[in-house]
Parts: sequence; structure tokens; C-alpha cells
Amino acid sequence: MKRGKKLYEGKAKIIYATNDKNLVIQYFKDDATAFNNQKKTIIEGKGVLNNRISEHILLNLSQIGIKNHLVKRLNMREQVIKLVEIIPIEFIVRNVATGSITKRLGIEDGTVLKEPLIEYCLKDDKLGDPLIAEEHIFAFDWATKKEIEKVKKMILRINDFMIGMFRGVGIKLIDFKLEFGRLKVNDKDEVILADEISPDTCRLWDSITDKKLDKDRFRKNLGDLIPAYTEVAKRLGILHEQSNVSVVNVTKLSSVKRKRK
Ligand code: TMP
Repeated sequence: MKRGKKLYEGKAKIIYATNDKNLVIQYFKDDATAFNNQKKTIIEGKGVLNNRISEHILLNLSQIGIKNHLVKRLNMREQVIKLVEIIPIEFIVRNVATGSITKRLGIEDGTVLKEPLIEYCLKDDKLGDPLIAEEHIFAFDWATKKEIEKVKKMILRINDFMIGMFRGVGIKLIDFKLEFGRLKVNDKDEVILADEISPDTCRLWDSITDKKLDKDRFRKNLGDLIPAYTEVAKRLGILHEQSNVSVVNVTKLSSVKRKRK
């Protein structure tokens, strides 16, 4: 698979063309941003961990019939994915109230929700990804009713599956963000899961101690982000005890290579 020209650069990933018009390469950067890019830094090794964790989750989701964009992981930082037209909505799924909802609605941090809550945000950095109602999606044709019905069903299955997967390794799935895209199949649009699912896009708390194992370590200046993401990867069985060293080494090697370019 040959990496072609850069098609798009987001805050944490870059998309490159390939020699197949239906496939692109998704490159995971080490950049960490929060509060719509107001706070940013580079955390060496983050991209490598997110690539592995997202691959693991998306492969598991395919096995339960959730169609998604992942074709295969190429190397430590890159995946081949299907080119989709991203629906411009961030779908936020909450099992426990924390983060923006606690401030917006005055809900006590850590309140367990009776059932999963889905919120919609318009994917527009210039506007700060504002919260929108479902009606806005239809009023402005961001997606059809049929697409949203399908997405909601997929979201609830993804949530059920991920709650169980994380619970099995002593982690509570507090909330997360999903993105979906349209794919042309036999001239018909199909909606599939896209983007990434990683500790950058989920809130993950240790089941016993409530220790944060996600990007809140960066958002709230808690430090030790890489050890937390590594812990998630190890518990999911992606990294083994001894491979901790190799992730760091490969990361260092790839950054040396980058600097030499
Ligand atoms: P929030 O509490 O800040 O609204 O975040 C809810 C969840 O969505 C949390 O797991 C982090 C994730 N998220 C993203 O992945 N990207 C974003 O741009 C935002 C705002 C949240």
C-alpha cells in the first residue's frame, strides 16, 4: 500500500491518499489537544497506543457485526481505512455524568445515568463543536432520519459491548465520542462507524479506585498519560508486560527518523 498525498490533517490524526481510491491511510499523531485546541502539547507515544487500542476495539466491534472503516493496521502509527464521507456530528454517549454535562446542567460529577444518554454536537471547530438537538440534524440536512435511527441502534450495541469489554478488565466506561461516515455500496449509501475509539475519545475509570485512565489526565493536568494509556492496552491484552519497553523504543526510533527527514 503506497502512501500518497495528505488529504486532511485533524488535531490528532492525518489522512493520506493511497493508490486505491476507496482506501486511505489514517496516521495517529502524538499531538494532544483539549478545549477545542486551546490547550495543546505533544505526548510522545500517544499515537502508537491509540492506533493499537482503536484497532483492537474496532476489530472486536466488527466481530459483533458493527461495520466500521478499519481495513487493517499497517504499522505502529498507521491504519488502512475505507474512505467515507463523515457525517458532521459528534455522537457523545454517556453512562455516568462527568465533564461538560456536569457544568452545563449542574449535575453532580459521577452520577450514574438510568440509561445511556446520547448527545449530538455539530463537528465544527470554528464554532467549538456546539451541542445541538436531533431536530437540528434534520432541519439542516446533516443526516437523514433513517441514518440517525440506524446510528442510534449501532451506538447502543457499541455501548453495551464496550461496557462489557472494559468491565471484564476492571475499567468503567464513563462516556465516549463516536463518528460515523457514509460509504457507497452498490450505489447505495451505507452508514458505518469511523474515526477512532481510544482513551482520547473515551472516559475510562479504574473500577475500584476511579483513577482516570484517559485524556482527562491531560485535560486536568494529572500527568502520567502514557502510563495510563499503556495500562488500558495491557489490560485489554494488546500489550504484554515486556512490550512496554518496545513501545517506548519504537516511538523513540520513529521520532529520531522523523527528525532526520
Ligand atoms: P465532554 O464531557 O467534554 O462533552 O466529553 C464527552 C466525551 O466525548 C468524553 O469521553 C470525551 C469525548 N470527546 C471527544 O472525543 N472529542 C471532543 O471534541 C469532545 C468535546 C469530547
